[in-house]
Amino acid sequence: MAKVTVDGIEVEIANGSSVLQAAEAAGKEIPRFCYHERLSVAGNCRMCLVEIEKVPKPVASCGQPVADGMVIFTDTENVRKSRRGVMEFLLINHPLDCPICDQGGECDLQDEAVSYGRDTSRYEEAKRAAAQPDWGPLVKTTMTRCIRFSTEIAGVPELGATMRGENMQVGTYVDKALSSELSGNLIDLCPVGALTSKPYAYTARSWELRKTDSVDVLDAVGANIRIDARGAEVLRILPRLNDDVNEEWLGDKSRFSVDGLKRRRLDRPWLRENGKLRAASWEEVFAAVTNKIKASKPERLGAIAGDLVDVESMLALKEMFTSLGSPNLDCRQDGAVFDASQRGFYLFNTTIAGIEEADALVIIGSNPRHEAPVLNARIRKRWLAGHFAAALIGVPHDLTYPTTHIGSGPDAITALLDGTHPFAEVLKAAKKPMLILGAGALARPDGAAIHAAAWKLAAQFNMLNDDWHGFNVLHHAAARTGALDIGFLPGPGGKPTAQMLAGGVDILWLLGADALDTQAIGADTFVIYQGHHGDAAAARADVILPGAAYTEKDGTYVNTEGRGQRAYVAVKPPGDAREDWRILRAISAYLGHALPYDTLEQLRDHLKAEYPVFAEEFRRFAGTDTAGPAAAGAMSNVPFTPPLPNYYQTDVISRSSPTMAACVAAHNPALAEAAE
Ligand code: SF4
Ligand code: FES
Repeated sequence: MAKVTVDGIEVEIANGSSVLQAAEAAGKEIPRFCYHERLSVAGNCRMCLVEIEKVPKPVASCGQPVADGMVIFTDTENVRKSRRGVMEFLLINHPLDCPICDQGGECDLQDEAVSYGRDTSRYEEAKRAAAQPDWGPLVKTTMTRCIRFSTEIAGVPELGATMRGENMQVGTYVDKALSSELSGNLIDLCPVGALTSKPYAYTARSWELRKTDSVDVLDAVGANIRIDARGAEVLRILPRLNDDVNEEWLGDKSRFSVDGLKRRRLDRPWLRENGKLRAASWEEVFAAVTNKIKASKPERLGAIAGDLVDVESMLALKEMFTSLGSPNLDCRQDGAVFDASQRGFYLFNTTIAGIEEADALVIIGSNPRHEAPVLNARIRKRWLAGHFAAALIGVPHDLTYPTTHIGSGPDAITALLDGTHPFAEVLKAAKKPMLILGAGALARPDGAAIHAAAWKLAAQFNMLNDDWHGFNVLHHAAARTGALDIGFLPGPGGKPTAQMLAGGVDILWLLGADALDTQAIGADTFVIYQGHHGDAAAARADVILPGAAYTEKDGTYVNTEGRGQRAYVAVKPPGDAREDWRILRAISAYLGHALPYDTLEQLRDHLKAEYPVFAEEFRRFAGTDTAGPAAAGAMSNVPFTPPLPNYYQTDVISRSSPTMAACVAAHNPALAEAAE
């Protein structure tokens, strides 16, 4: 530790810290543009100048390490004069664009110019002009007005500086769209208006927006977000800091799909009559649903929960079906079947932050870069720290860190188990090895056998002990962990998804379930679709109950680690749409089996009482807390296939988003053409 004095305040700080960090520890604010605590120090902007005793010239505090006994001054006349000089240089070529600049109101340069800017310019020369490169549909560039993030965090080194001095420009070397799934974070990092959000351009000023803290549901990471809305419209989504989950990053799909929230919305109930859907009232659809259900045998009723649904709604549907006597429930619309009898079997047990402790990794049937880009960035962060070996079983991908490709299918798991693949030695030597089992390995007929083999692998290679749990399932559906926690699964004698679709039920309730093969649904099955977007499942429905999207309701979501988090209402659902649990509560009364809660608070109390895990604080489990999953069949040798071949369009919201469609067109034109 080093003892330093900042403006007369003595602070103790770890050796190797910078003078800027010491100043922050002493409660002093240092202006900065290029410094960011999660990136390497660049020392470009010189705005962070301070004075240090016995040093003749002002020093850039972000790049200067502390030394014991150092005496630092952050607010002398000399410091202020130096910063004013730096500001004058920074503004030489800066246009006076604030009134039409999207960064206005949340711009570090604007803020600092208030303190250090001159009211007149001494420069009479022409300002520099620069061409505006096209970086794709997400990031808008204004080059008159950054590189480290894309290289260090996202692992896609496609930005750099070309030319020198006055002519230097930041760009992609060859004009092309940014290919990272995390490119939107460049916008947050850019302290000025050089990089702004293209879809949000000229939409709103920051002070017009109503800000709601919430969680993202477009993958199962549960990134913490802030929803910015004006009136009834969500205008943008930004990440919120949570070091345990997403740090301060957010995937592009989660950030830029907002325009999908207002398109193809179901804003009133619909009823199919004579083969055609017609608009109906709530009373009419309630009566139609009630009559149908009352006329059906309980064992011929089935319900499937989708990927974006909150726990409260799934609990209400489960309890309604249980009270009707139906055991036919499933939350696995992808058909994954494996032993989910204990939490340890289906959680990302290492935890996202825990990845930083691991020293070896085997990824099985997953592409975390597409299924959970923020979690993948955490793996890359671990790899950057050194002494980390990663291997992949499945389709080889560029994961932004090197991997050893062991094989394409389950036989590669066997090769590790019997020690015939050299990576077995790496795992044996590792102190904290981990594995990630993805949906590509579980959503297939031999998923249960692969699940059991992966657990065996974890047990054999020291991944399951008292202080370490290296067995991880990576879900990509935000609703899945919560659904498994409340047992939204077939009860005794109940039918799983595939059987329900293939005529195993007469009435099929799809609660936001739209990622299933609607063509496979039996022709005589009466389909009730409860959800927020008019996608394939709504088109097949006989009754449509308009529900609320995640930005329009208070709801609980459990991320892939098992962390329960809350989403909050940012805007009201459109038209006649309602929160899903309320719709279910109303129908349960029509059916004569009224659910035992009238308010969300009562529902949540009931949830905690029935499923105590919802009353507990999040905690990491030990690898020895859980016995192995039940033995299950044999593994085939069919290679794993990626569950999400198209990162930008995975759910009803992103499929409805023109911005996401533009991303597909920019990155995968063949896929975009096929969709047309
Ligand atoms: Fe104004 Fe900041 Fe935009 Fe420059 S980057 S024009 S200072 S708002
Ligand atoms: Fe840019 Fe220190 S913050 S040089």
